[in-house]
Amino acid sequence: MANLEELLHQRLAPAFESVAGIPVDPAIRRSPRAHFQSDAVLALVGKFGGNPQDIAAQVVKAAQLDDLCSAVEVSGPGFINLTIADTALGRLLAVSCSDERIGVPQTGVPERITVDYSAPNAAKEMHVGHLRSTIIGDAAVRLLEWLGHTVIRQNHIGEWGTPFGMLVEHLLDVGESEAAHELSVGDLNGFYQAARRKFDADEQFKDRARRRVVLLQSGDETTLRLWHTLVDESKKYFMIVYGMLGVRLTEDDFFGESYYNDHLQSVVDELDGLGLLRESNGAQCVFPEGYTNRNGDPLPIIVKKSDGGFGYGATDLATICHRLRNLKAIRLLYVVGLPQSQHLEMIHAVARDAGWLGFPARAEHVGHGSILGDDGKMLRTRAGASVKLVDLLEEAVSRAAAVIAVKNPRLDEETRAAVARAVGIGAVKYADLSTDRLKDYVFDYDRMLAFEGNTAPYLQYARARICSIFRRSGAEPPQDIAELVITEPAERALALELLAFGSVVTAVAETLEFHKLATYLYSLASAFTTFYEKCPVLRSEGETQQCRLVLCDLTARTLELGLGLLGIESPDQM
Ligand code: ARG
Repeated sequence: MANLEELLHQRLAPAFESVAGIPVDPAIRRSPRAHFQSDAVLALVGKFGGNPQDIAAQVVKAAQLDDLCSAVEVSGPGFINLTIADTALGRLLAVSCSDERIGVPQTGVPERITVDYSAPNAAKEMHVGHLRSTIIGDAAVRLLEWLGHTVIRQNHIGEWGTPFGMLVEHLLDVGESEAAHELSVGDLNGFYQAARRKFDADEQFKDRARRRVVLLQSGDETTLRLWHTLVDESKKYFMIVYGMLGVRLTEDDFFGESYYNDHLQSVVDELDGLGLLRESNGAQCVFPEGYTNRNGDPLPIIVKKSDGGFGYGATDLATICHRLRNLKAIRLLYVVGLPQSQHLEMIHAVARDAGWLGFPARAEHVGHGSILGDDGKMLRTRAGASVKLVDLLEEAVSRAAAVIAVKNPRLDEETRAAVARAVGIGAVKYADLSTDRLKDYVFDYDRMLAFEGNTAPYLQYARARICSIFRRSGAEPPQDIAELVITEPAERALALELLAFGSVVTAVAETLEFHKLATYLYSLASAFTTFYEKCPVLRSEGETQQCRLVLCDLTARTLELGLGLLGIESPDQM
């Protein structure tokens, strides 16, 4: 266990308890005064009184810290400042180095977790909103799996409901094979808009579309076959986009809205049996407590519309039941844009009211903001159309290729193409994940592809440079050392960064604030840069060199792993 915060916690908690007589969280954090500090005495004194300096001194006396800290000081109104001994750093680094997981153990409490993410709509282009959900959801899947949780991916695509009447009729007009072709090459928007135009302009077509919806919902065989063509071609196209993005979604992860069809009526019946259903304007609704509109009127989740059809809300209630009861999940994540916050909160509230969702199970909306253009509005093409995701990704890759060609003209063509893909796609993902997900951000190719600053190429390059140190010198990272000898401040600073990885990853698994992992990787790379400027590696000798080689190796491995958890590749050369 090479997680310093955790180690200090383990040593201080019993000391606090012996002094206070009750369990106390030592509240360890990185410190500007020493390496770490504990502020728990302040809270304790606030509650029970006493002299803070005395109490802090007693805690320090009771704590077993000799092998970990070189200095333990009480300062100010009772802060405990902790300086980690170089020998302890050296020992912990040696442990990390010999461990495939660089010192981060799997979780002691593995959970079954569903991740609802990506969820584009069939016969419609994936837009930038789905890009964010796809990238964030993929990072959640990777991180939680790596920590040892069982993760079940749920791609809740929209492929049911009234628009499909119109789309099936349009498919018949165009001809089945021609329509399949249009969709498979990704002209989803063209297809959708053509159908929409007819629907808006042509009363007869509108009638046909309406009748078709009824046929679809009553399970008419021909209609279902045509509907399948639409959905299957869309899925094929989504798989192409996922392939380009390098996300873990597969064909088996599609659990679209239609999947829940047969369960909707029983969900409604159950809510009715619980006395939660109320009629409102002919529709069957649930009114979770605490949700009102501007006039103070209660807001409904409409489960059954006045025409007898089920709504988006009913389907989402069915997803909760399915995930809790059939998939036996205990943590339900919904990676969906912020505009759907209220909808999801209300759905989760209804599930709690119905008694479906309760401790220890929990549902979380992992919300995210929007991607903006440089005009500060939703990202669009110059012509004002929505941006096709494949175009956006291709552009990122081709711009990356141009940058790489200048940086490293000696790369052969095949390597260059692979590197350009890793850098271009990595840059798009990193720009997203390094922003606080609750915020909007401006999509900017130049900034995300820069080799300076908090970007994917900067981190990828930092790692590739370390790979080249080993490659050019033929040096190997040393194996099986019991303790590294640390002497220089830059070595110490880098060691402390490296040993912080575990606590960052554990915290991010809870909050899914991936920008904190990104910020960590960036400060690790910066600490490495300072170290590499101050401390010669290949020109040093003996224990000093051993230590420095391990620091290089661990930095490279931490960057590769950290980027990997964000879904970003690390090419060995760039
Ligand atoms: N298909 C929806 C959309 O494009 C997103 C679905 C999100 N997931 C959910 N369970 N509601 O907005």
